[in-house]
Amino acid sequence: MKGILLAGGNGTRLYPLTNVASKHLMCVYDKPMIYYPLSTLMLAGIRDIMLISTPHDIELYKKLLGDGSHLGISITYQIQEKPAGIAQAFLLAEEFIGNDNVCLILGDNIFYGDGFSTTLKNCSQIDEGAIIFGYRVNDPERYGVVEFDENFMVKGLEEKPVKPKSNYAVPGIYFYDNHVIEIAKKLQPSARGELEITDINIEYLKQNKLKVDIIGRGSAWLDTGTPLSLLAASNYVGTIEQRQGYKIACIEEIAYRMGYISLSELEKSIDNMPNSTYQLYIKQLIQNEIIKVPVLL
Ligand code: G1P
Repeated sequence: MKGILLAGGNGTRLYPLTNVASKHLMCVYDKPMIYYPLSTLMLAGIRDIMLISTPHDIELYKKLLGDGSHLGISITYQIQEKPAGIAQAFLLAEEFIGNDNVCLILGDNIFYGDGFSTTLKNCSQIDEGAIIFGYRVNDPERYGVVEFDENFMVKGLEEKPVKPKSNYAVPGIYFYDNHVIEIAKKLQPSARGELEITDINIEYLKQNKLKVDIIGRGSAWLDTGTPLSLLAASNYVGTIEQRQGYKIACIEEIAYRMGYISLSELEKSIDNMPNSTYQLYIKQLIQNEIIKVPVLL
C-alpha cells in the first residue's frame, strides 16, 4: 500500500504563524506537526510515501525529512500548485499510486491510542473498497459527518453540514483501493470549489463498498488547524510524554520498532542530531535498553 501525506493549503486560520512557513511545520509540543501523521503512516506499515505540499513549502519538507532512507522508508515529493481540495491528491499522485491501494492522511491530523497501530495495520491490508473512520466530537459541523440509521448502519455522509445528523466526524485518514483514482477523476468541484474527499466516500458508499470504523473514546483524534486546537494538541502530547517518559511520534524510534532500521542505524541517526532533549531521548532508549521492551508505541 502507498501512503500520501497531504501538507498543502495556506493555513490561513493560523495567521500570522503561517505567514512564512507551512502549517504542518508548526510545533506540536516538541516536534513539527508533520511528524505525527508521518508516524501514523509508518505504524500502519506503509513505507512508500508521497508528501504533497505547496511550491514554496516543499523544499522545507525535503530539508526536514529527506528521502526517508534514514527511517528505512521512501519519501517522494509532489507539488500542489493550487489547493483544489483534498481529493486532488489522487490526481497528483496517480503515477505514484500505480496499481496499488492507497492511504491518505492529512498533515494536521493527530491520532493516539492504545491498539490504534493494530487497527491501522489491519486497514492497510484492505482488498477492495474503502475504510474511513468515525469519531465522536462536540463540534461535528466543522468536519465530514456520518449519518447512521437506527441499526447504526451508515446511511449518508455530509461535508461540514450546518445541521449535522450525528456527532460522528470523519477523521483525516482514509484507506482506498485503486479505484479511488478513477472516482477522483470523475469528481466535480463542490459549492466551495473543492474536490471533496467526502464525495469520494459517498461514491464508495453508493457502491456499497464503504466501511466506517468507529474510533472509540479511549483514543484521541486531534486536529490542529486553529490556535486553540494547536495548543490543545501540544498540551495533550506534552502531558502524555511527561507522564510516561515515552515520546509520541518519535519517527526514529518508530522506524526501529517497526523493523525499518537496525539498532546501529538508530545509533547513527543520533550522530546527526544536535544536543537536544530529542537526541537524549533516543540515546536513553538505547542505553537503558528500553528499546527491548516490546511494542509500546
Ligand atoms: C477535511 C475534510 C473533512 C474531514 C476533516 C478532518 O476538512 O474535508 O471531511 O472531516 O478534513 O480533519 P478541512 O481540513 O477541509 O476543514
